Amino acid sequence: MAKLVLKKKIKDFNKVISVDGDKSISIRSLLIGSQSYGICKIKNLPKSDDILSTIDGLKKLGIKIQFKDKTCYLHGNGLNGFDYKKNIVINAGNSGTFARLLLGLLVKSSYPVKIIGDKSLSRRDFQRVTSPLKQFGARFVSKNESNLPLTISGSEYLRPINYFEKKGSAQCKSSVIFAGLNTPGKTIIKAKKSRDHSELLFKYLGIPIKVNKKTNHDLITINGKTKITSFNYKIPSDISSSAFFIALTALTKNSKLRIKNVNVNPSRIGLIKILKKMGGKISIKNKGIEGNEQIGDIEVKSSKLNGVKVPKKYSASMIDEYPILCVAASIAKGKTKMLGIEELRFKESDRIKVMSDGLKLAGIKTHEESDSLEIEGKFNVKGGISINSENDHRIAMSFLILGMVSEEPIR
Ligand code: S3P
Repeated sequence: MAKLVLKKKIKDFNKVISVDGDKSISIRSLLIGSQSYGICKIKNLPKSDDILSTIDGLKKLGIKIQFKDKTCYLHGNGLNGFDYKKNIVINAGNSGTFARLLLGLLVKSSYPVKIIGDKSLSRRDFQRVTSPLKQFGARFVSKNESNLPLTISGSEYLRPINYFEKKGSAQCKSSVIFAGLNTPGKTIIKAKKSRDHSELLFKYLGIPIKVNKKTNHDLITINGKTKITSFNYKIPSDISSSAFFIALTALTKNSKLRIKNVNVNPSRIGLIKILKKMGGKISIKNKGIEGNEQIGDIEVKSSKLNGVKVPKKYSASMIDEYPILCVAASIAKGKTKMLGIEELRFKESDRIKVMSDGLKLAGIKTHEESDSLEIEGKFNVKGGISINSENDHRIAMSFLILGMVSEEPIR
């Protein structure tokens, strides 16, 4: 396993930066592009492991993908147009989004497809998607029904379903939306609020989808079997990658940062709202819309943070940002209590436990319960410790940031 340590406490800075393209939007644009007819041009795709797993997997399914001058050219084969050999195995690596959304696209596949993943992905729950996909007519073979490796066999006789997504999981919602694409008739989803990139991309491409927004959930209707034409798309920068730099700037004295062209979709900016409540000096400038997604430059200044209560209603809009919020809360005045965050236990690692254990090692008082975490902030964190990130990139990044603002580095 790689060991990372940033050796020096960071000095004040005033910078303008860009971060890589958004992972969720990238995976969705590649998968939907594969179902279109013609050549899609996708710009600003990050070359991160999850995106490379998605590209490798699609290539195995017969989709031609090339890169020229940093633009991705993806040759769509139409709905259910995957063209592959019998007994193929797709390695989703570490990517839950790719594996779960791909299963949605495979409900009509002609030959069985086996999906495997790395150690972390193989521990994660897949029943949350196999269960609704079975109702469409797909069949699954796996050792225990809920984990990878699993093999999906599609059905020629798909039927649309009515599905209630109760977890606030965009992966579950999107997997069902994707399955609805291949299914004749109306698929109806009542979904607890979560990121809506799939819905926005469908609307942008003119794929028939209706979204009726209610206070606590959305009612989504998809009409299957529509022809999708190829498209050009520029992926906006990733708010979840930006989150580490936002927190670092807020926690560093006399500093200022502007992050350009970030996706500021309202279903993703929970962390910005909470940091502002804590006293964070953060604003969004140059707002605009690209490819149906809201974008803007995020400007952050050094801030004095105070602990706050983070209610459950924020969880979906900052689900990947709790680890870095824990770091911000560690250097804030008073206590921060995050409620209704049980889903964090089912991510690349058990993020409640790994953050709580790591912060305790760093001398910060924490208290975890099954679905909440409380952190007592203090201004001088000593550091000088080693953390096991459990191969979870968001844990590694969060503790690196803590190491950059603590007295001694964190490995
Ligand atoms: C994602 C949704 C979230 C998030 C993940 C990406 C997506 O997962 O944690 O990193 O692209 O839909 P859940 O839907 O399981 O909450």
